[in-house]
Amino acid sequence: FALSARTTEALAKYIEAGKAKKIVVLTGAGISTSAGIPDFRSPETGLYANLERLNLPHPEAVFELSFFRENPLPFYTLAQELYPGKYRPTITHSFINLLHQKGLLLKVFSQNIDCLEREAGVPGDKIIEAHGSFADQACIDCKKSYPKDQMLAHIENKTVPRCVDSSCNGLVKPKIVFFGEQLPSEFFDNRHLLDEADLCIVLGTSLSVHPFASLPGFVNESVPRLLINMEQVGNLGSRPDDVLILKDCDAGIKELASALGWSDELESLWAG
Ligand code: OAD
Repeated sequence: FALSARTTEALAKYIEAGKAKKIVVLTGAGISTSAGIPDFRSPETGLYANLERLNLPHPEAVFELSFFRENPLPFYTLAQELYPGKYRPTITHSFINLLHQKGLLLKVFSQNIDCLEREAGVPGDKIIEAHGSFADQACIDCKKSYPKDQMLAHIENKTVPRCVDSSCNGLVKPKIVFFGEQLPSEFFDNRHLLDEADLCIVLGTSLSVHPFASLPGFVNESVPRLLINMEQVGNLGSRPDDVLILKDCDAGIKELASALGWSDELESLWAG
């Protein structure tokens, strides 16, 4: 076994011994809830539990391409709330940056569209935005790009933008990945990195959306996987070197940082 026990301390020893130099981090909405952004599936606080006002056939419809074609207004009613820029990274985001600064981060694959990994200081070339971002927008029919300033005005006003080409008049959508859409090519181009990883850290995700949910399965059998999440998810815990910290991400991260002797460094990085 790679670890002497399935504990935070044993994992910290593994890292201290220099055995984890290519860490891949997988993140989801649970790392941003303490920043004030709701996740999707938590029973009471999650976004999907709070969409009655949009009169959807089912909550996920707000992110389904087929529904958007029929009725784009619910998405644009919500877009202002989802738009990044209003929130501060958490200590968990700073921990990912600390891994980068120590030269231990191979890549972070994020399902989040809040850009907080970047905001925390992780460079763009280390981040795979698996579910896209608000950085760009285009017509869903002819794929023509749409001006950023006009997009911002529509998001502010909760109105639906239409293609710049009036003969097309297609619906415009930010390049966040909807159900029914392909993930960005960089997701597939970098997926092999899971196989190269010498430690995989899964943070704040229910692992319920594919193909992202399949990533932990690509990690080599002999490589430790750490899950920090409120609940056990996926098949994390099924391998002898899986370590589970089933609690709040920030608390779990602080526990790991403390076992590594990195607490002060982490706190000052987070404080900025
Ligand atoms: P989910 O809402 O499905 O899952 C969040 C997970 O984080 C759950 O397991 C929570 O228990 C856990 N959690 C919440 N707050 C936490 C905290 N403070 N500390 C630790 N754990 C916490 O969110 P994702 O897994 O990110 O896709 O959802 C995946 C995708 O589904 C999203 O990217 C989005 C959504 O539909 C698209 O819109 C394409």
